[in-house]
Amino acid sequence: MYSEKVIEHFQNPHNYGRIENPDGIGEVGNMKCGDIMKLYIKLKGDAIEDIKFETFGCAAAIATSSVVTDLAKGKSIEDALKINAKDVVDSLGGLPNIKVHCSLLAIDALSEAVYDYYKNTGKEISEDLKKKHESIKKRDDE
Ligand code: FES
Repeated sequence: MYSEKVIEHFQNPHNYGRIENPDGIGEVGNMKCGDIMKLYIKLKGDAIEDIKFETFGCAAAIATSSVVTDLAKGKSIEDALKINAKDVVDSLGGLPNIKVHCSLLAIDALSEAVYDYYKNTGKEISEDLKKKHESIKKRDDE
């Protein structure tokens, strides 16, 4: 069912844990399964210097979060926000269709962590990010 890469990331997830005094925290739930994800970012200027995650998620959620954090680390905020499910699935050499939604957990948590950072620092938040935040919150409340 899973590719070797998925199993590798699941058994040895990268960037697992938490960051003390992060610049932003994103917390999201997955409406399909009830799993949750917490993601922390530490910035240096406009770049993601460090990123870590904690999850009560399935094997696919752990593997995809490992990949999302790898892809985001060192990127500018703007580029990190462009990471999508296809990038994640491709990096893992495929993912069963019923598990693709699991990859959204870390992608959404990353955009929520950026939203949190912007909000805490009083920075201007783009319309796209605001909309995404609202739809994630609405979904989590359902
Ligand atoms: S089944 Fe819940 S995140 Fe995968």
